[in-house]
Amino acid sequence: MASLPSDTHLPEMPSADLSEFRKVLSNSKNIICLAGAGLSAPSGMPTFRGSDGALWRKYDALRLSTKAGFLDSPSRVWQFEHYRRELVFKAKPNAAHLALAKFSIPAYRERVAPESTFTLITQNVDELSKKALQSVKASLPSGSIDNELSDPDHPPLIEMHGSLFDLVCTAYECGHREKNYNSPLCPALAGTELIYEADSKLPEPDIPKEDLPRCSKCGSLQRPGMVWFGEVPYRIDEILKLAENADLCLVVGTSSVVHPAAKLAGMVKAAGGKVAVFNVDRSKRDEQADFLFIGPSETILPDALRMEDV
Ligand code: APR
Ligand code: ZN
Repeated sequence: MASLPSDTHLPEMPSADLSEFRKVLSNSKNIICLAGAGLSAPSGMPTFRGSDGALWRKYDALRLSTKAGFLDSPSRVWQFEHYRRELVFKAKPNAAHLALAKFSIPAYRERVAPESTFTLITQNVDELSKKALQSVKASLPSGSIDNELSDPDHPPLIEMHGSLFDLVCTAYECGHREKNYNSPLCPALAGTELIYEADSKLPEPDIPKEDLPRCSKCGSLQRPGMVWFGEVPYRIDEILKLAENADLCLVVGTSSVVHPAAKLAGMVKAAGGKVAVFNVDRSKRDEQADFLFIGPSETILPDALRMEDV
């Protein structure tokens, strides 16, 4: 077999050495984490590009997260959103959500990464990381929430694609945005989540616009408030600034194919920082990472961050 020329530079394979990772963690001062659908998969939320998520009913789930998909059939897009909302109502934050939430509490993080800042940037729209943070904060002795949690330059959590529970008015002159946790959002959506079941014989309803979610201010049709493909993620300037100043980027449960999220780790690396990937599978550009931990993040991450026994 032909051998490679002796001066061939093969990129170092990423390390899977936990003690090495913990050493880097303890010396890091500005840490960010980019999370994707794999963070919430153990909580029952389908991923987008794994076998369980690419299709919904017989439709391409990705196309249902586009403006064109909504214009095509607001009825179908709202049934897709309703299906995912109903999944979230049954879902709970898993150990990886909780580990990241604990890691965002300065008093806990101090033990493994002294004098560091941390922001979780999630692509997920299920609010499970927000719920995890709320439950961790609620369990803290009262009055012990360090002021860094309200440090405007280093927020604990940024939901860059928004939330399934954000709704926006489609009327240009209104644009009213609201949170809505009703289940269902409107009577016409009730029970449509069941049509998803593969053996469902139920016909797919074509819900008239007037029976879809309507703006509480002007009565116009509402759209899901999350960021669709081709739209600018929320707080993107803040996110890019955090990535420019980070010296460690954790990449958890994402295929790293959707931009601009996918470029954050590369930005940290290019600025001399370190990247640690946590994924059940190989993912894009993970060979460029400094650390690669292959396995379920719900078991590996709490241990890697030493947040299991806090
Ligand atoms: N632990 C760690 N990683 C996991 C786990 C798990 N338990 N389960 C799945 N994964 C990994 C998969 O191997 C895959 O790499 O999670 C990743 C999920 O990838 P995607 O489905 O592509 O989801 P994501 O990367 O978040 O997609 C980015 O694309 O569809 C849009 O807006 C949507 O926010 C989404 C964006
Ligand atoms: Zn309106």
